[in-house]
This record gives sequence, structure tokens and C-alpha cells, in this order.
Amino acid sequence: MKLLSVFTALVSTASCTPYSQYILAPKSRTLHPVSIHSSNNTLNPENLLSSCASNSSAVFSGPAATAYDFGINIAGLVSLSVSSTSSSTQRIGVTFSESSLWVSNSSSDATALDGKDEPLWFDINSAGTYTAPRAKERGAFRYLTLVHDGEGSVDVQDVQVWYTAMPHWADDALGEYTGWFHCDDDLLNRIWYAGAYTNQLCTIDPSYGNALVHLQENGSSFFDAVNVTWWSNATITEGKSALVDGAKRDRLVWAGDMSIAVPAVVVSTNDVISIENSLNSLFALQNSSTGQLPYAGRPFPTTLSFTYHLYTLIGVADHYLYTGNITYLTTLWPQFKFALSFSLSFIDSTNLMNVTSPFDWLRFGMGGHNIEANAILYHTLNQAISLASALNDTAPIPSWTTTASSLKTAANTLLWDNTAGLYRDNETTSLHPQDGNAWAVLSNLTYTPTQAYRISSGLQSRWTPFGAPAPEAADAISPFISGFELQTHFSARRASAALALMRLQWGFMLDDPRMTNSSFIEGYSTSGDLRYAPYVNDARISHAHGWATGPTASLSSYVAGLQVVRAGGAEWKVAPQMGGLRRVDAGFETGVGRFRVQVDVGERRVDMEFETPEGTAGEVTVPRLECEGRVVMQNVEGGCGDVVVEVAAKDVGPVSVADVKGGKWKVAFTCSE
Ligand SMILES: *[C@@H]1O[C@H](CO)[C@@H](O)[C@H](O)[C@H]1NC(C)=O
Ligand SMILES: *[C@@H]1O[C@H](CO)[C@@H](O)[C@H](O)[C@H]1NC(C)=O
Ligand SMILES: *[C@@H]1O[C@H](CO)[C@@H](O)[C@H](O)[C@H]1NC(C)=O
Ligand SMILES: *[C@@H]1O[C@H](CO)[C@@H](O)[C@H](O)[C@H]1NC(C)=O
Ligand SMILES: *[C@@H]1O[C@H](CO)[C@@H](O)[C@H](O)[C@H]1NC(C)=O
Ligand SMILES: *[C@@H]1O[C@H](CO)[C@@H](O)[C@H](O)[C@H]1NC(C)=O
Ligand SMILES: *[C@@H]1O[C@H](CO)[C@@H](O)[C@H](O)[C@H]1NC(C)=O
Ligand SMILES: *[C@@H]1O[C@H](CO)[C@@H](O)[C@H](O)[C@H]1NC(C)=O
Ligand SMILES: *[C@@H]1O[C@H](CO)[C@@H](O)[C@H](O)[C@H]1NC(C)=O
Ligand SMILES: *[C@@H]1O[C@H](CO)[C@@H](O)[C@H](O)[C@H]1NC(C)=O
Ligand SMILES: *[C@@H]1O[C@H](CO)[C@@H](O)[C@H](O)[C@H]1NC(C)=O
Ligand SMILES: *[C@@H]1O[C@H](CO)[C@@H](O)[C@H](O)[C@H]1NC(C)=O
Repeated sequence: MKLLSVFTALVSTASCTPYSQYILAPKSRTLHPVSIHSSNNTLNPENLLSSCASNSSAVFSGPAATAYDFGINIAGLVSLSVSSTSSSTQRIGVTFSESSLWVSNSSSDATALDGKDEPLWFDINSAGTYTAPRAKERGAFRYLTLVHDGEGSVDVQDVQVWYTAMPHWADDALGEYTGWFHCDDDLLNRIWYAGAYTNQLCTIDPSYGNALVHLQENGSSFFDAVNVTWWSNATITEGKSALVDGAKRDRLVWAGDMSIAVPAVVVSTNDVISIENSLNSLFALQNSSTGQLPYAGRPFPTTLSFTYHLYTLIGVADHYLYTGNITYLTTLWPQFKFALSFSLSFIDSTNLMNVTSPFDWLRFGMGGHNIEANAILYHTLNQAISLASALNDTAPIPSWTTTASSLKTAANTLLWDNTAGLYRDNETTSLHPQDGNAWAVLSNLTYTPTQAYRISSGLQSRWTPFGAPAPEAADAISPFISGFELQTHFSARRASAALALMRLQWGFMLDDPRMTNSSFIEGYSTSGDLRYAPYVNDARISHAHGWATGPTASLSSYVAGLQVVRAGGAEWKVAPQMGGLRRVDAGFETGVGRFRVQVDVGERRVDMEFETPEGTAGEVTVPRLECEGRVVMQNVEGGCGDVVVEVAAKDVGPVSVADVKGGKWKVAFTCSE
């Protein structure tokens, strides 16, 4: 049997990053603005743009201001070079904004609950270079405004930003990704890379964390002030880098956010050390008498969150899944079990966990026998069972299995609303939450594929023109929970619904002019206003939030279908769900090796080529066309015999082949003549 290869270019080795034209990470840490947003009373403001090769200055004389645009969201420390000043008592202010909405010559956007952040003022007494102190690094901004007030003038020769994200990577290698994704829908490609870049912005020097410096004060004290003080200099983890929730704020470790960010990091940069530093900082705070884990990393005040406590455990399971590092798992295992028993102690006579603290992802009404919290507990129990097997610590498995099974029965008896085809938030409400329904499918709390299908369709039927709503958070679209909803649609084998949601919601988040057009926002309203229900202060919303990067991992693991199943990829699946796409080419690396796949859907045939590391094994699922035909698999290197599977027309759905050895394979499904 001879197979025709439709692939001309094989992906190259590590020295060259595929599809690098999509990578948003800067090529150098020294950045200059690329254009002018608006300018008043400034002479030659264009002299400060990156395109301007001359040393000529922009002249700020009397009240003057120019707002510069860096083209993408960036992070860092600003420096000004002043070539001359009319007196020794001049000053230049700098303001920052992620969104064009908050560009201003009197304040930055916000980090506090109320008000706006004060300008960063440089007292100019002579020609020279003025650099912001390190605590005044701004975690994310696309726009930078220079303002001069009072009399006199200042000639500014240069304004530059020293880019501080990804502190542990070489200055000229910020775009050296280990993963890639490309398909025949360019919007999806741009979304994948913007997700990867968002997580890079959220990877910070852990000595310069925590933007919530006014948390312990009364928020309302600021009201409409434009002079709220701000800085970021708390040490939040050990090590040289940390994955945090958001780049501007909170600049803290939050385990819930990591549950979306971590898989996206793995498939793009595989920056495991930042993940470990963050996870370790949470376990360092475990209460030694109860096992309770923190809501967020230090210095956030001690708070109980049932879900974030569990997300920290999911972080351990994800770490083992993506790295296969049994040593790391062994180190955390006693703390893991202690924390799990803390959660299990809240299971009452209904067999569900009774949530007694409202803290979650800032949704409302978290309490009682909540479906989201219980679905997450069910998932964590199943993770615990597989980790226990990997560690040969089999003693707790029977009890965890029984608990998981009775929890599943109780959730379906008490919380499934068969009329609506969705779960209720708890047994005393008719609200059908997005979070709990998405999690119920992901965690396999559902009994049948039909139930999962109904949830997927039910969630889709609620979309607004701006995305998937989260009614449990009032008038909110949550890019965090919608990241789980994407996985729900794929799990229900409704890939085209998942792709439609990416285009609708993440397309809006990427291309709307109020956005940074490079990183993903934390939340907004169902009508597309950049207002997020949990906050009173719109300027506070973060425009680079790792929890909003769900599509990146979903595109790699469901559309390209490259799934790590166990121990860093010792066991894997290759199961593309094309959702109407014709071509996809994707790959990533773990500690176990490189995984890649290319799929090409033709009129009468589907061709796939994939590569997984030697010594591993997995299962291949070939998307098929609606016809009778056959699947032929050929081992390109290694000389295993061809595998042939005949497929009858009446067999619906894709074709799977199990126990495939790691290596390089070509697979084709062809319709019969
Ligand atoms: C710019 O100014 C610096 C000193 O301020 C000088 O060394 C350099 O040669 C100048 N470059 C150009 C292109 O004029
Ligand atoms: C600052 O912005 C305000 C509008 O917000 C405008 O009225 C004022 O003229 C600006 N000042 C300068 C110096 O550009
Ligand atoms: C310039 O002035 C206009 C009109 O008052 C204002 O809208 C704009 O924000 C100002 N731009 C800057 C950079 O201050
Ligand atoms: C916060 O407000 C309460 C009353 O609303 C007041 O007693 C307290 O002193 C305030 N704290 C601060 C730090 O302003
Ligand atoms: C901020 O401005 C308000 C008036 O808007 C003033 O009452 C307050 O003292 C100022 N705070 C600081 C720290 O300058
Ligand atoms: C952090 O910055 C603030 C404001 O500049 C300063 O008061 C504080 O001492 C700094 N803390 C540390 C640990 O450097
Ligand atoms: C640990 O939990 C106990 C019981 O809730 C509490 O009394 C104690 O203060 C906690 N310890 C720490 C360090 O938070
Ligand atoms: C596995 O984890 C251990 C403990 O954290 C660490 O020392 C070791 O370097 C890790 N191994 C790899 C391959 O990253
Ligand atoms: C049950 O869910 C509703 C809707 O989210 C919420 O308002 C209510 O507070 C919840 N009940 C408990 C006990 O938390
Ligand atoms: C959950 O526990 C709290 C505190 O013990 C109790 O007041 C509440 O009634 C319980 N909720 C349910 C739904 O059983
Ligand atoms: C678990 O047991 C298996 C079979 O005896 C062994 O190969 C493996 O190394 C053990 N794993 C651990 C973490 O001890
Ligand atoms: C999900 O649960 C059903 C039973 O409710 C079971 O048949 C199925 O195997 C489970 N799926 C997975 C992936 O564990």
C-alpha cells in the first residue's frame, strides 16, 4: 500500500521557531513607541518613535502632553533621556494604560478598587537619563503618555521601556517558543499566539509582585481620585520567575487562574520553572493544623476558598501530567493528601461538599451544595486516584473511589435539571451556572454523552454577540470560565461550537479597538462594555490575564488533538477534532520529548502525519469523512508493519487505533472508490 504524502515541509528542529511571524514577544528588551495616539502642544513628538533614527528631541513647552502607543501590551521600566531643560525645576509625568479608554495626561489606569493611579513624575533638573525605580515597574500597558505642566520646557531625546516580563529568559530570546499552532483560519492562529504572549506578560520577577497595595484600606476612600499611589515590590515566591494572575494586577499567584494558564504555557513556552515556583509558594502557606491551602499566594491575606484550594491540588496533578516528574510529585504528596482530606471533611449526609465560604473566581452565590465546587472536587478525587497509582500509594484509593462515586450520584440526583438540560447552581435555586455546567462535563460528572451534549448545546444557546455569559457573576462574560466552556464543547464532541466561541469571544477580545490587540482581558459585560461586574472601577480591569488564555491549550490538545495522557507524555493521544477546519499543524515539547501533528482534510481523504517520542505509547484517532473507507497507518521510521482498519459507512464517528508505539507515523483515511 503506497501512501501519498501531502506534506511538503516537515517542521524544523529547535534552532528555528515555526510560524515565528505570529509571535508577539519583543525581539529585544529595549522598546520604543511605534506611533502617536494623540498629542497636544508638543514639538516633534514623532522624534521619540522607534522608526525615528535621529537623535532629535520632542519639545514639551508649557502645558503639553503626548500619548504614545507601543502597538501591543508590554511591561517594564520607563527611562527618559533629556537633552536640555529650561530650568532645574521642571518635571515630566508618565501615565500608563492598557486600554485606549484610559489614556490620560493626568492619571494611569487603575490597580486599586477605586480611583486611578497617579502619574509617575520625574523631577528634571538637568540634561541626563531618568529611570523609574524598580518598584514603579508598570506590569502592563500599551499606551504611555508624557506630560509637562507649568512654565518652561523640556527637550526629551528618548523614551524607552526596559521590558521586564519573562525575567529568566535571555534578552534576545523571548520569542523562542517550544510549541506552535497553525491552521487554515488565521484568526484562530492569532488567538493561539496572543494567549501564549498573555502568559509571558504574566510571568514576572517574583521580587516585584503584588499590585494590591491598598487592599487593607477602605476602597471607597479614593472615589474619583486620579492620584492613587501604586507600586509593586513584594516578594511573592522563591526563584527567579513566577506565573501570576495578571500583568498589571494582581501580580499574585492564584491557583484557579493557573488551571487555565498552565496548559497554555506548556504547549507554547514549556516554562515549567515559573509554574513550580508559583505552586511551591502556595504549598508553603498550607495551614499545618487543618491542611487548608491559601486563596492566593503571599502577601494576600489568609482566606478560605473551596475551589482555589482544590485548584492548587489540580496544579500538582497538572504538573505531573505535563512533566512526569515523580520526584516533585513525591515531595508534595503528603501535603496533597492532607489538603484533600480537608475538602472531604465538608462532605455532609447528602454526599456533596457543603461550601461554607463565598470566595471563588469573584462569582456570586458560591455556597452550599454548589455544582461547580463539587464537580471540581470530583475531578480532584479522580486526579488523586491516578496520582496515588503512579506513586504506588494504593491505600487511599478504595475510599476515594467510593466517595467520588457517591458524590456523582448525589450531584445528579439533587442538582440535575432534566427539563433545562443543565445543572442547577445548588438545590435551592433555578440558576444554571456556566462554571458548574462546564466543570460537570469536564470532570465527567455526567452519566452519558447525551447529557454532555445537552449541556454543550444549552450553554451555546445563551451566547450574546460578545461571548458566553456567566449568569452566576451577574452581567459578566468570563474569559476564565469560557475557557472551561471551550473544553466542554470539545468533550461533547462539538468542536465547531468550540471554534465558533473562540472566534466570537476571543476574536472580540483580540480585535476590538479598546483592547490591547495582543493580550486577553480578565472580564467584561454581556453587552461588550468593558465593565466587569465584580468591580466598581472599570479602569481596574486587567487586559493581560492568564486565565483568559483557554484557546491556546484547547487548539493544541483538541483541534490538533495532541494530548498528554500520563507522566509527561509517556502515554498520549493524537485525536484531532477539526470542527470544519481543513488543515492544522501543531506541536510542543515536554520533558519526555517532542509531540507534533499535521492534518489535512481533503474531499475524499484525510491525511495525518504525527510524531511522538520513542519509548512512549498512545492512541490515534483519525477524523473521518462521511463515507465507507479504510484507515492505513504507516510507521515512517522504525519499520513496524502497516496497520489497516476497514471502516464501514454505518460506523459513525472517528476511527481509533490503540497501543501505537511512539515514533513518526503517516495515517490516511480514504473513502472507498
Ligand atoms: C546621538 O547622540 C549621542 C550622544 O548624545 C551620540 O553619541 C550619537 O552619535 C548620536 N547619534 C546620532 C545618529 O546623531
Ligand atoms: C489633558 O487632557 C485634557 C482632557 O482630558 C485636556 O483638556 C487638556 O488639554 C490636556 N492637557 C494637555 C497639556 O494636553
Ligand atoms: C489633547 O487634548 C484633547 C482635547 O482636549 C484630549 O482629548 C486629549 O486627551 C489630549 N491628549 C493628551 C495626550 O493629553
Ligand atoms: C474603614 O471604614 C470604617 C467605617 O466604614 C472605619 O471605621 C475605618 O477606620 C476605615 N479604615 C480606614 C483604614 O480608613
Ligand atoms: C488626592 O487628591 C485628592 C483630591 O482629589 C486630595 O484630597 C488628596 O489629598 C490627594 N491625595 C494625595 C496622596 O495627594
Ligand atoms: C516598596 O515600595 C514602597 C513604595 O515605594 C516602599 O514604601 C516600600 O518600602 C518598598 N518595599 C520594599 C520591600 O522594598
Ligand atoms: C490554621 O487554622 C486554624 C484553624 O482554622 C487557625 O486557628 C490558625 O490560625 C490557622 N493558622 C494559620 C497560620 O493561619
Ligand atoms: C524534578 O523535581 C525535582 C524536585 O523538585 C527537581 O529537583 C528535579 O530537577 C526535577 N527534574 C526535572 C527533570 O525537572
Ligand atoms: C444557591 O445559588 C444561588 C444562585 O447562585 C445563590 O444565590 C445562593 O446563595 C446559593 N445558596 C447557597 C447556600 O449558597
Ligand atoms: C452548610 O454548613 C453550614 C455551616 O455548618 C450550615 O449553616 C448550612 O446549613 C449548610 N448548608 C447546607 C445546604 O446543608
Ligand atoms: C511503583 O511500582 C512499580 C511496579 O513495581 C515500579 O515500577 C515503580 O517504580 C513504582 N513507582 C514508584 C513511584 O515507586
Ligand atoms: C464517565 O462516566 C461514565 C459513567 O457515568 C463512564 O462510563 C465513563 O467511562 C467515564 N468516562 C471517563 C473518561 O472516565
